[in-house]
Amino acid sequence: MELLKTVSETRQFVASQKEEKRSIGLVPTMGYLHQGHLSLIHTAREQNDTVVVSIFVNPTQFGPQEDLDRYPRDLEKDCRLCTQAGVDAIFMPTANEMYPGRFLTWVQVQELTEVLCGASRPGHFRGVTTVVNKLFNIIQPDRAYFGLKDFQQAVVIKQMVQDLNIPVEIVAVPTVREADGLATSSRNEYLTPQERARATVLYRSLQIGRQLIEAGERNVHSVREAMVKEIERQPNTRIDYIAICDPSTLVPVDQIKNQVLLALAVWIGNTRLIDNVLVEV
Ligand code: PAF
Repeated sequence: MELLKTVSETRQFVASQKEEKRSIGLVPTMGYLHQGHLSLIHTAREQNDTVVVSIFVNPTQFGPQEDLDRYPRDLEKDCRLCTQAGVDAIFMPTANEMYPGRFLTWVQVQELTEVLCGASRPGHFRGVTTVVNKLFNIIQPDRAYFGLKDFQQAVVIKQMVQDLNIPVEIVAVPTVREADGLATSSRNEYLTPQERARATVLYRSLQIGRQLIEAGERNVHSVREAMVKEIERQPNTRIDYIAICDPSTLVPVDQIKNQVLLALAVWIGNTRLIDNVLVEV
């Protein structure tokens, strides 16, 4: 497995793969790899000749009060997991390699980034789309893999690729969950054992919403209220948002029909977790 640290050595690696007509699958990550990332890597492994994983804790997608400095890192373990999973190369640039000196160009998707996580994390998606664009330009993948736990991120990136005619297929991969339903996330690492037990409330609340809809409930407020109530039963939790929305526009719906996305962000102590489920009506 190649360890690529600079843009220029990565371009050389990419050129050699293209010369051999090998298709490239890219799995963009911020490291601290877990089962969710491994599921992206396995899917990429099945669908491409060459798999590149990028590991870069992208500073531009963190707000000033957010967890950039304490974001968990374990490069040694990440490399081991990637080797075991048959990854061909890891692109692991420094912040200076990605953002050297004056940086004045941003990629911003409108509307889709103003709701849900975008409403409470201003600038977050601008940082994501900008760095993903840079990764696409450096690695020129045929396909790129994103987890559906970050449903909004996948929708935003698909929109960007469509709007800017970027020649990459975006593959969205289902959320991987722990045995008790908690979606895998690097941020689960922050939770104390007591908070970890409480964190199961996110998926439980989504299941309550889903079950109500499947049982015939069509009133958005009733579904939302039941979800809120479940979360408020837990001490030291605070709801950032609970939304019932259209999965393609991310706009809240006032009628439950066709397909709806139940999405939420909840603070468990000092850790903000997100999760979602798609419900067929
Ligand atoms: O989902 C993530 O880990 C990040 O937002 C991404 C896509 C790697 C961009 O930094």
